[in-house]
Amino acid sequence: MSLTPSDKLPLLLAITGASGSVYGLRLLQYLIEAGQPVELMVSCAAEQVFAEELDLSLGNNPKSSLLNYLNLPLSSPLVWHNINNFGASVASGSYRTRGMAVVPCSLGSLAALSHGLSENLIHRAAAVCLKERRPLFVLVREMPFDLIQLRNMVSLTEAGAIVAAASPGFYHRPQSVADQIDFVVGRSLDQLGFDHHLFMRWKEESQPLPTTRTQAL
Ligand SMILES: Cc1cc2nc3c(=O)[nH]c(=O)nc-3n(C[C@H](O)[C@H](O)[C@H](O)COP(=O)(O)O)c2cc1C
Repeated sequence: MSLTPSDKLPLLLAITGASGSVYGLRLLQYLIEAGQPVELMVSCAAEQVFAEELDLSLGNNPKSSLLNYLNLPLSSPLVWHNINNFGASVASGSYRTRGMAVVPCSLGSLAALSHGLSENLIHRAAAVCLKERRPLFVLVREMPFDLIQLRNMVSLTEAGAIVAAASPGFYHRPQSVADQIDFVVGRSLDQLGFDHHLFMRWKEESQPLPTTRTQAL
């Protein structure tokens, strides 16, 4: 009998139909480059946002389209899940993962998650993370918020999730949009428990920053 460390368990990543899909793609790129297995779910609205914001069409082979867009090898540790497939591994709590990030999270998905709905695999996988007490990180992109949305954030926080807004800081003196994206993605990685050097931390000594960028930037 042995106890195996679970540091290579997959991270679940959902990209939903909020503006800022580039946050999700940059997070995916960074995780894969770091050798972290990722299991990805992309909502139908997110595909629409890809087209609107990034001129990205996933076509018939979404996994290879995404890897190609992110300049990642086809052999990358990425699993693509169709969000209508409730028989997927990630729909069950017995399938072990290190948690889930919803980046970006639309207000529609926020409402579904905070009410325990399971209308697609994203909702179900997030509900599984909550019931199994695994990390669930939700990056909302909207402004301003109405009371219903604020209450949904409170409910989700009470259920154990970490809710954040996609709001870049400026104290690290960003020189580009890419720097601002990396700040938000880096702070998301902080919450998910990953080491990174995506931006200069407050009072931190100078460190080389990554050179890879998404094609959109
Ligand atoms: C270009 C574009 C940008 C959008 N931006 C946002 C946004 O920033 N926040 C949001 O909550 N919804 C946004 N929406 C609306 C959502 O996509 C819509 O509510 C959808 O039903 C969300 O579905 P999903 O959560 O399954 O992805 C946007 C839609 C489009 C087409």
